Amino acid sequence: MKFFIDTADVAEIKEAQSLGILDGVTTNPSLIKKSGRPFNDVAREICKLVPGPVSLEVTAIDCAGMLKEAEKLAKFGDNVVIKLPLIPEGLKACKKLTEQGIKTNVTLCFSPVQALLAAKAGATYISPFVGRLDDIGQDGFEIIPQIRQIYDNYGFETEILVASVRHPVHVHNSALAGADVATIPLKVFQQLVQHPLTDKGLAQFLKDWESVKA
Ligand code: G3P
Repeated sequence: MKFFIDTADVAEIKEAQSLGILDGVTTNPSLIKKSGRPFNDVAREICKLVPGPVSLEVTAIDCAGMLKEAEKLAKFGDNVVIKLPLIPEGLKACKKLTEQGIKTNVTLCFSPVQALLAAKAGATYISPFVGRLDDIGQDGFEIIPQIRQIYDNYGFETEILVASVRHPVHVHNSALAGADVATIPLKVFQQLVQHPLTDKGLAQFLKDWESVKA
């Protein structure tokens, strides 16, 4: 299972990289805004910093505009993945980019049938947003095993990239459901590592060591 970080903050990416378990980065216009930096600067820096896939999102809402933007975004590096919204124009753009050998991440997916459409359009990644479904009182995670089953039924190679991850249970469930990737905020990476019994056990080991070391 791959771990991406869901941020456009370079310091956060470096922090996650230092753990040695980071495979890629996902961004979106809101995360770019949160970084407080101009898009071109931050995108260029992230693509250089991270050897793995970096998702950069288009903002056009028509296929021709998306393809034009994709051309520009692809210039930031060989690792760029074009993030497209799951709307009809996004599916059209996905199909065309796939035909050109360009990697895509179809985003804002909230249902298994939407995920099926993205796979049929040749998406490299599908991004179901589990946290945002939780936010409206639906069990967001329910759709992940369903997408897994649909993809496995027909041998689709589109990777399930669980997005809108809010806490460690989302990551735990992603791994159990056979998701290919989870894109995780730095705070959740830090929460994943922690366990009170690990800290308690380590404190005891260090205390005992003090009394026996030479
Ligand atoms: O990158 C897309 C997704 O992960 C957004 O998450 O927390 O804004 O719903 P969130």
